[in-house]
Amino acid sequence: MKIGVFGSGIVGQTIAGKVAELGHDVMVGTRDPAKLQDWPGKIGGNVRVGSLAEAAAHGEILFNATNGGGSLEALALAKEANLNGKILIDIANPLDFSQGMPPTLFVSNTDSLGEQIQHTYPQVKVVKTLNTVTASLMVNPQQLADGDHHLFVSGNDADAKAQVVHLLTSWFGWRQIIDLGDITTARGTEMYLPIWLRLWGALGTGLFNIKVVK
Ligand SMILES: NC(=O)c1ccc[n+]([C@@H]2O[C@H](COP(=O)([O-])OP(=O)(O)OC[C@H]3O[C@@H](n4cnc5c(N)ncnc54)[C@H](OP(=O)(O)O)[C@@H]3O)[C@@H](O)[C@H]2O)c1
Repeated sequence: MKIGVFGSGIVGQTIAGKVAELGHDVMVGTRDPAKLQDWPGKIGGNVRVGSLAEAAAHGEILFNATNGGGSLEALALAKEANLNGKILIDIANPLDFSQGMPPTLFVSNTDSLGEQIQHTYPQVKVVKTLNTVTASLMVNPQQLADGDHHLFVSGNDADAKAQVVHLLTSWFGWRQIIDLGDITTARGTEMYLPIWLRLWGALGTGLFNIKVVK
């Protein structure tokens, strides 16, 4: 399958590397492809680096792994025509570091970054997920408790969510995925970030997750 990954940071590289390792044809999109010039050779697999528009045109399924504050700008550079009709797996969090650490959320309570992306691109099937775990855990949940911990999905399109759940399960090995509902439920997972950040500080590692019991 052809996959486009927006974002050249740790999340973009982790997702792209894993998906390429599984045999898919991956293009990472960045504003500055030159900065990742040597990276594909280091990880192997079928990965290329291009512009955001090239990655968007390439991918049948797209991942948004850009900085939350730059996500709408990155998607504009990706160009709406290259996005329309596709699933966009949105991993970004609306973190605002402008006042230092810990960051605040630049959108919350009555709106979310996932919704802003969905509103801006009504023909894109936005599915918010993976934003509640650290990068390495996204593609290898077995690192913790044999994978017995939870991930969430939010999105308006039931078929798109089902495809994403299948992908998270079969590609990355997630066993416990809770469908929270439509894209407005992304408010909840994005507003989980303030406690995620405090847990990170308290535990001294980002390698943790939550398990929901009832
Ligand atoms: N790090 C984690 O473990 C983790 C876990 C869960 C969720 N997340 C979320 O996943 C996303 C990626 O995180 P990250 O740590 O990999 O990297 P990051 O430093 O948050 O984001 C890096 C990427 O954002 C792009 N970007 C930043 N500002 C932009 C702008 N104005 N226009 C277009 N692109 C812009 C950069 O593009 P260029 O390459 O063009 O410079 C780069 O590709 C974030 O939203 C983060 O909150 C991260």
